[in-house]
Parts: sequence; C-alpha cells; structure tokens
Amino acid sequence: MFQYQGKTALITGASSGIGAAFVHALAARGMSVILVARSEEGMNSLAAEVKQKHQVQTHVIAADLSQLDAASKIGQIVAERGLTVDLLINNAGFMTHGPFESIDPASETNEVMVNIASVVGLTHTFLPGMLARRAGGVINVASVAGFQPIPYLAVYAASKAFVISFSVALWEECRDRNVCVMGLCPGTTSTELFDRASAPEAALGKPRTAQQVVTTALNGLDKKRSLIVDGLKNRLLSLGPRLIPRWFAAQCAGKAVKSKTK
Ligand SMILES: NC(=O)c1ccc[n+]([C@@H]2O[C@H](COP(=O)([O-])OP(=O)(O)OC[C@H]3O[C@@H](n4cnc5c(N)ncnc54)[C@H](OP(=O)(O)O)[C@@H]3O)[C@@H](O)[C@H]2O)c1
Repeated sequence: MFQYQGKTALITGASSGIGAAFVHALAARGMSVILVARSEEGMNSLAAEVKQKHQVQTHVIAADLSQLDAASKIGQIVAERGLTVDLLINNAGFMTHGPFESIDPASETNEVMVNIASVVGLTHTFLPGMLARRAGGVINVASVAGFQPIPYLAVYAASKAFVISFSVALWEECRDRNVCVMGLCPGTTSTELFDRASAPEAALGKPRTAQQVVTTALNGLDKKRSLIVDGLKNRLLSLGPRLIPRWFAAQCAGKAVKSKTK
C-alpha cells in the first residue's frame, strides 16, 4: 500500500476535472496537496475547500506548463517553501482536434509541451528525491487514446502513447527502489477536456466520472502497477489495438472519430 497519511502530493491540472478529483481524494487520505495549473482563482477556492474539509496543508502554484522552464520554476518554488513531494501526479493535458493541416501549429507545440515535456521535466525534478528516500510515487495521466494512432487527434494520441511508454519504462527502472511510476489510461471521462477542444463529439462511449478514474488510479498505485486502464469496457477495448496491425487500428480509429464529427 502507498503511504498517503502525512505525505505531500503535487497535482498538475488541479484546477478542474480529473486533477481536482485527485486533490479531493488525496486530501481525504491525509495528504498535503500542492495544486498546479494556470487558473489561480479556481485552485485557491478548491484548496480552501479541501483544507477546511480534511485539515490538510494546501499550496497553490500558478504555472503555465507549456513554458520550457515551468518544471524547474515549480521545483524552485517547492524547495523555497520547504516542501517535499512524495507523490507526483502529472495530470495536466489538453487536446487539439481536426485535420492536421487545419490545426494551429502553435497550439500543437503547446500540446507537446504540456502533455509530454512537462511530464518529463517534472519527473526529472521530483523523482530523484523519491529514489534517494526510497519512497514515493509518480502517476502519469495518459489515455486509452495512446494505444493506437488516431487520425484527427494525431498529436494528442501520439502524446499519450509517449506517456504510456515513458511511464512503463520508468516503472521498471524504479521498482526495486520502492518508487512506483505508473501510467493511468482513462477512457472518455466527464470533464471539460472535449469542450475545451471544441470537440464534444470526439468523446466516444459512455463517460466515466473523474472520481471513478481516481479510485482506479489509487488502487493501481497501491498494487504498484506499471499501467492501469480505468473501467472494464475501456480495458477490453484497449486490447484490440494490440492484436491488429497499427495501420488497421488507425483506420478503425479514424472512422470512429470522423463519423462522430460529421
Ligand atoms: N476527459 C477525458 O475523457 C480524458 C480521457 C483520457 C485522458 N484524459 C487526460 O486527463 C488529464 C486531465 O484532463 P481532464 O479530462 O481532467 O480535462 P480538464 O478538465 O480540461 O483539465 C485539464 C487540466 O489541465 C490544466 N492545463 C491545461 N493546459 C495547461 C497549461 N498550459 N499549464 C498548466 N495547466 C494546464 C488545466 O488547468 P488550467 O486551464 O487552469 O491551466 C486543467 O486543470 C489530461 O491529461 C487528459 O489528456 C482525459
């Protein structure tokens, strides 16, 4: 079992959706929480709510994770406040959607920075301390979208494939030192993700709740899993792409997304 009580978690993308659900669940387990996202006001009110409800320490760091130096700045702020991160939740992320040539290149660069570079940067910032203490955990929020190439969500799906591969590789590097690095793959979850991408129609299947996703994640962490898929239906569906050629998986995924977006 992961030791939550009295420890500190840093959660990115803590201002809404799955990140906010992590904040509630970890505070309920007795963890101090460090909230990271851009929306400072929203994080302040969430921090005040969980502090009052669970009597834990809360900290808010407003940061734009698309910036190259975001991880080192966050590391500096955490050190200046005398905090130790025992559990890192790399959750912040967003999605671009549409035919590749129609998407603003700058927003896709930002997507790579937030969904990939910040995950690597923050892991570099906080994992070495955990390994030195021989205790800790990292949960990287990937997606079932990372199991196959997805036309019209090409960069998003590729970014999540990166997170899956990165997480499982680090799981193997760290497991003998009592640090669990785990990839978490939610399927469609009811959050603001699709609306923010102006693509509510790209949400496939019946959505799960952010709370269900977080329960799955913490069960996986307790069992020191390398990768966990949320929900039975998502687990079954995620097997398919591993059994068929990648080009065929891409064709099937492209048809599903395109037929929904027509
Ligand atoms: N919802 C789904 O169906 C689903 C499925 C699979 C995986 N996921 C993954 O789950 C994670 C959480 O997403 P969600 O569904 O909870 O969506 P969400 O409600 O839109 O939350 C996204 C979070 O990421 C933060 N964020 C976005 N850009 C940022 C930036 N440049 N700098 C700092 N923070 C940034 C947002 O905060 P600010 O805007 O305040 O900065 C927000 O807190 C993402 O990695 C997503 O890819 C979601």
